[in-house]
Amino acid sequence: MKKKISDLIKKKNKQKIVSLTAYSKNVASILDNYCDIILVGDSLASVLYNYKSTRQVSLEMMIEHSKSVRMGIKKALMVVDMPYNTYRNSKEALKNAKKIISKTKCGAVKLEGGKKIYEIIKTLVKNKIPVMGHLGLLPQSDKTFKFKGKKKIERDRILKDALLLEKAGVFSIVLECVETSLAKLVTHNIKVPTIGIGASKYCDGQILVFDDLIGLNQMNYRFVKKYTNIRNEISKAVSNYSKEVRKIKFPNKKNSY
Ligand code: KIV
Repeated sequence: MKKKISDLIKKKNKQKIVSLTAYSKNVASILDNYCDIILVGDSLASVLYNYKSTRQVSLEMMIEHSKSVRMGIKKALMVVDMPYNTYRNSKEALKNAKKIISKTKCGAVKLEGGKKIYEIIKTLVKNKIPVMGHLGLLPQSDKTFKFKGKKKIERDRILKDALLLEKAGVFSIVLECVETSLAKLVTHNIKVPTIGIGASKYCDGQILVFDDLIGLNQMNYRFVKKYTNIRNEISKAVSNYSKEVRKIKFPNKKNSY
């Protein structure tokens, strides 16, 4: 059965929400069995394209990857990141969000920011476009890439932003790289679920970049747990394949017509 946004909201304080990123059909079709939300994140900038910043991701790239992911999803809620410079004002955001939804059939879009995009989110929600918010470390605009919430001024701003996003009508908020007590505070003060990445166990759900979780990405982040080291598995398989090709063991009779 398809996951409904209303059911995800009801999970708050009852059951944790499970979420991962996917950029293609094959991965999405596996994640679909275990995840409530699958995000086509603009993190594909560094993970797939080796770009320095998510700012380099275009709307077309997000749409093409999302079309692939769409083919792998039957149950999970599919959320697509709106890339940088595609929501600079309400009119632009509405046009691009509509394009993403019509081309990819996703269930929601995600936008980074707080007060600055309050009116934009309100416009999308008024036009029946479900929106996921994103606070804390905002890769599209952050310059320092540091954890958020140590300074009081930062804590106050993030809490205020969360309350504003809720007022604007988001159905959930990603909290990225946020200090534990702040994640707890935000989570307790809003009615919609928070989805944490590097934001403690106190969020209502968790999200990770899939390539990090399986150890395909060689980077090591403190907030990531590698549940397997898929690089080793791929190495073993490719090594065996190359040996067998060179020894003329593959293809054998079974693989031939
Ligand atoms: O782009 C992305 O993958 C994200 C997650 C890290 C939340 O925004």
